[in-house]
Formats: sequence, structure tokens, C-alpha cells
Amino acid sequence: MKFSEEKLNKVKEIVARYPEGKHKSALIPLLHMAQDENGGWLSTEAMDYVAELLQLLPIEVYEVATFYSMYNLKPVGKYIFEVCRTGPCMVNGSDDIIEYIKSKLGINEGETTADGLFTLKPAECLGACGYAPMMQLGSTYREHLTKEKVDAIIEECRRNAAINN
Ligand code: FES
Repeated sequence: MKFSEEKLNKVKEIVARYPEGKHKSALIPLLHMAQDENGGWLSTEAMDYVAELLQLLPIEVYEVATFYSMYNLKPVGKYIFEVCRTGPCMVNGSDDIIEYIKSKLGINEGETTADGLFTLKPAECLGACGYAPMMQLGSTYREHLTKEKVDAIIEECRRNAAINN
């Protein structure tokens, strides 16, 4: 994996935001860039590339990438359903929502549908407890989930995937 010239310029710009000797602080945004570039997940090769760019030891990159749930360490679908399952969401039915998604898509937690469209990734509190049960889908939050809303979201994703193909 290699960034384009344009992306390497972006890397320089990000690194320049931090004081001399504090370039490690650029790790989080660079991992996001690498994940986007690599189809939504971080392979060892992608993490090693980031380590090389920031002149860090690979282990320093792995430690961060494996700590945060926003990084995917194996291939994922185009749409990731990150369903919160922490207390407030759980008492409002997140387990039922997760079970419904599993049966509707024919996958288990952490798995991706055979068509490569959907991944189910249960998550810890996403800070939207007042809208429980909820999930994150890309850059959006989907709130007060019901089975009907899940159906509509799946259809919406399928429509968008068909348009973008
Ligand atoms: Fe689900 Fe906080 S418990 S968003």
C-alpha cells in the first residue's frame, strides 16, 4: 500500500500540525487515511506503511490500531452496522436489534455478508444513550432503532450501493 502524491502532501500537512518531536500524535489521522485507502480496514502492511511514514516501530502502530474500535483489523463490508450494546441501549432492546440484524443478514457479530455489503460490529457506548437503541453507520447515527427502521436502513444501503456501482 502506498499513498498518492496528493495524500503524501496531506500526511506532511497533518504531521506539521504537531510540535517538533511529537510526530507520533499524527498517528490517529494517518491510520484513518490508511484505513480508507485500504478498503475500510488496516492490514499489517497498511500499519507498517504508517509506521514507516512516521518513523515509528510497527508495534507502536499496532498498539494504537488494536486499542480503538474505530479501526478494523480485518476486511469489512461497505456498510458497517456498529450497534451499541452498553447498558442504556441494552435495556432499550439493543440485543433484539442485534439478533434481528443477524437473522436478516445471515451473519454473526464481526462477520460480513457474502456480497461484501454489510458488517455487524457491536459497539460500546457511542455517547447517544438518550436515543437508545442506536447504531453508528459511517458518519451518521441511527437512533431509536426498531426492526422496521433496520429494514429501511438495509434497503437504503442497498439502494446507495446500486447507485454507486
Ligand atoms: Fe448506547 Fe450510550 S449506551 S449510546
